[in-house]
Amino acid sequence: MTRFSLVETPIRDSFADAVLAGLGRHPRRLPPRYFYDAEGTRLFDRITELPEYYVTRAEMDVLARHAGELPSAATVIEFGGGTGAKTRLLLEAWFHLRPRIRYVPVDISKAALTATAGALLPQFPGLSVAAIQAEFDRALELIPREPSLVLFLGSNIGNFDEAEAVRFLHALRGHQVVVGFDMVKDAATLHAAYNDAAGVTAAFNLNVLARINRELGGTFDLGAWAHRAFYDAGEARIEMHLVARSDQAVRIAALDRTFAFQAGDTIHTENSYKFSPERIAALARAGGLDVAKTWTDERGWFSVALLT
Ligand code: AVJ
Repeated sequence: MTRFSLVETPIRDSFADAVLAGLGRHPRRLPPRYFYDAEGTRLFDRITELPEYYVTRAEMDVLARHAGELPSAATVIEFGGGTGAKTRLLLEAWFHLRPRIRYVPVDISKAALTATAGALLPQFPGLSVAAIQAEFDRALELIPREPSLVLFLGSNIGNFDEAEAVRFLHALRGHQVVVGFDMVKDAATLHAAYNDAAGVTAAFNLNVLARINRELGGTFDLGAWAHRAFYDAGEARIEMHLVARSDQAVRIAALDRTFAFQAGDTIHTENSYKFSPERIAALARAGGLDVAKTWTDERGWFSVALLT
């Protein structure tokens, strides 16, 4: 019995290309998707358990209370599902309603896909998994065309700028799309969530430099860089940066390049947008979708929206 299949695609945008482009421009930046090597994934999982990082718990709370109200579907597509904990919760609710579900997880990590399938398949006899290992852009061309339920949880949409978010939603017209949105809230709560006392978010941010050292033969001295995260209320986003503590030259063997940094120079590593109900409605509309329903926790900190 074959309940698992995997489509693999070549990853076009290599880490080396992204580092060369991102450190060679001003302002310098590295795309957040490169946080998630094995070590970065482990650090992110620790972030989700931090007392200050309310995001994952708030979304879990919303999903746990309203799983039965979400539409079920024969085919469930999920972009960037992570450990599968939220997916498990939803599948448990949906298997009460239908005996068979095809689950199509999309991720750039083959290891993440096989781990998720390995965890879910034994628990649900009616489940089949048709995994797609691809970048999100490419995956949009590979997902089933039949009207399905699409999950994009965790406020992963917060990493997109407006144009990217609209393009992504637009490509999903015809499906029912469930999106997790972290909401605008007081600046102190947001600041603490990205500046935890235990320093896990700092380690997560710095890991992208360690990854350059490991994979590209870089010479970054991690002690010479600091984590900086702040809330920009005008842009309604958390920005994460790495800040050089001293003047330094960093050689990256795989690029055959040396990059010079001065004390105070920054590398912009992440935007994490925060949302309002108006903003969610505007994004959906711009993407050709309507907000059919939203579910929110009691504090109004996190919203799960059904877009159709
Ligand atoms: C996985 C993008 C939702 O923006 O909160 C957590 C990543 N960065 N702490 C977020 C993250 C720093 C996270 N997302």
